[in-house]
Amino acid sequence: MACMDDYLEVNRLNWDERATVHAASAEYGFDRPLLGDVTGLTGIHLQCHIGTDTLSLARLGARMTGLDLSPVSLEQARQLAADAGADVDYVEADTYSAVEAVGGRTFDLVYTGIGALCWLPDIDRWAGVVADLLVPGGRLFVREGHPMMWAVDETRTDGLTLGYAYFETPDPFDLEEDGTYVENDHEFVNTRQLSWNHGLGETFTALLDHGFELTGFAEHRSVPWEALPGRMVRDGELDEWRLVDEAERLPLTFTLQARKR
Ligand SMILES: C[S@@+](CC[C@H](N)C(=O)[O-])C[C@H]1O[C@@H](n2cnc3c(N)ncnc32)[C@H](O)[C@@H]1O
Repeated sequence: MACMDDYLEVNRLNWDERATVHAASAEYGFDRPLLGDVTGLTGIHLQCHIGTDTLSLARLGARMTGLDLSPVSLEQARQLAADAGADVDYVEADTYSAVEAVGGRTFDLVYTGIGALCWLPDIDRWAGVVADLLVPGGRLFVREGHPMMWAVDETRTDGLTLGYAYFETPDPFDLEEDGTYVENDHEFVNTRQLSWNHGLGETFTALLDHGFELTGFAEHRSVPWEALPGRMVRDGELDEWRLVDEAERLPLTFTLQARKR
C-alpha cells in the first residue's frame, strides 16, 4: 500500500517530467463542448498543467488564473501565455490548498478536468474546495474521463474487461507508466503514479452536499487522448479518440456543469 503522505510528491515528479514533453507536442489543444460564453468572467483552471486550456479561456474573454502542483508545468504555462501576449495568473499549489493559495479570492467559473480528478483521493473534499472558490451563482465546468473508462483494464485488447475499482477507494492505484499520452521518444525516469477513481454518484453527491445544483450532464463516446491504446482510432471530425469496436458499450468522458446556489 502506498503511503498517503507521499502521493503529492510522487505525482509532482511524474508531471514535472511530462510537462516539457507535452509542451513540445502538437497534440495538445483546447476542447470546449457546451462551454458557452465566458466573456468578462473571472475563472480559475484547477490542475491547468501547461496552460493550453487556460490560455484558450483567456482568449475567449475570461480573466484567468491557472493552478497546478507541478512547477515545470507552470513554467511552460507562463511561457505559453507570454508568447501569446495573454495576461494569465499562475499559482503553484495542491488543489486542496487552492483557497489559501489564491488568498481567499472567489471566481465566477471553476474549470477543470481532462485527467484532473483522478489525482485527488477524496471527491467530497474537492467539491468543498470548488464551492469555496466560487461566488454564489458561480459555475463549475468539468470535462473529464468517465469513471467507467478508468475502470477498464487498458492492457487487455481482447474486449472490454474491468481491471480497476469504479468507486472511490481509500488506497490509490499504484501504477507504473513509462510513457505518456502524446507521441514522444523521451525515456521517462519518474514512472510511478498514484491515482483514484470516483464514481459518478459519488461526484454528484459531493457537489449536492456542498450546495451545488447540477445544470448539465452529458456522457461522450470520445476522449481527447488515446486512453485505451490498441483499441482506439482518431476521429478527425471530433479531433478526439473513439473505440473501434463496441463503442456503444462504454462512455469515455463526461461533461458536468453545476452552479453554486
Ligand atoms: C493530465 S494533466 C491535466 C491536463 C489539463 N487538464 C489540460 O487540459 O492541460 C494533470 C495535471 O494535474 C496536476 N496535478 C496532479 N495532482 C495535483 C494536485 N493534487 N493538485 C494540483 N495539481 C495536481 C499535474 O501536475 C498535471 O499538471
